[in-house]
Amino acid sequence: MKRVFSGVQPTGNIHLGNYLGALKQFVELQDENECIYCIVDEHAITVPQDPKALREHILDVAALYLAIGIDPKKAIIFVQSDVSEHAELGWVLTCASTTGELFRMTQFKSKSGGKESVGTGLLTYPTLMAADILLYDTDIVPVGNDQKQHIELTRDLAIRVNAKYGKTFVVPDGRFMKAGARVMALDDPTQKMSKSAPNAHSRISLLDDDAKIKKSIMKATTDLDGVIRYDVENKPGISNLLTIYSALSGISIPELEAKYEGKGYGDFKKDLVQVTIEALKPIRERYEEIRHSDELNKILDDGARRAKEIAAPVMKRVRDSFGLGR
Ligand code: TYM
Repeated sequence: MKRVFSGVQPTGNIHLGNYLGALKQFVELQDENECIYCIVDEHAITVPQDPKALREHILDVAALYLAIGIDPKKAIIFVQSDVSEHAELGWVLTCASTTGELFRMTQFKSKSGGKESVGTGLLTYPTLMAADILLYDTDIVPVGNDQKQHIELTRDLAIRVNAKYGKTFVVPDGRFMKAGARVMALDDPTQKMSKSAPNAHSRISLLDDDAKIKKSIMKATTDLDGVIRYDVENKPGISNLLTIYSALSGISIPELEAKYEGKGYGDFKKDLVQVTIEALKPIRERYEEIRHSDELNKILDDGARRAKEIAAPVMKRVRDSFGLGR
């Protein structure tokens, strides 16, 4: 059995990109692997958060994990800050990294873009992420494409520490979806779909109601030639919609192109609305059932205990490697 670890930030608006790039993989992997899924609240505070809202968003993500089909009997679901070893190993790995490699991270560059001074947590975000992964002797990290560079850094840090201090960490691999690894914004298919974009129609959130889903898809940017063909370079809008359709329905992109040959964007979009509504409705219903249940906190308590059991001995190994303590 392989060990799988991944995390999602509790920052609201979990969207189709998060689902198709990462969360869908979480469910696929849980039957044949030992899976650990984290709600990374310590990553969330790398940018200012309202404390009350953060606490709510933590439970929102936990409920969404369950609603999409993660089974707490199979996988561990827990909150990052419940296991203090994350912050501890984060510090150690910050010391194993260089400022050069952290300044090179494209996510840091885009989040700090143009500003003279930004929160230090934005710079050290990737070393905390590396800690999350390495703390569990993780083999596989299912994520979207935007996390590729962070996974590479995690591997580099693991290899570097192993070379200097002797075998301490398992070197993990990223796992990326064929369709869905990079879902683009509906209003601007040159940008990735994001939680924080001001235009709500740029994304479909997993909890959007049917009317919002319809409006966002019908408004989605396409091009003028009206041909339903996958061509990311010249037709990024329709290509993104084809990706979403394919990932949600399981129908391959060439099959979709054949199905819609001679038809217009209007027909295609109407069908995509239906496919999306059908895919998200059961998630929304299950979410409503469990979001305010006692079960949710019990699952997170149990998850924290199970996560800590794995993390504590790895952290001890790290302290021994680095000569920390006595
Ligand atoms: P977050 O919360 O920003 O994103 C959660 C997951 O969604 C993926 N994703 C996308 N995939 C496809 N298309 C998109 N438009 C899109 N937008 C987001 C992300 O790649 C991610 O897999 N840094 C992580 C959180 C994290 C983590 C970890 C992940 C912290 N520690 C350890 C794995 C292992 C992040 O970006 O979360």
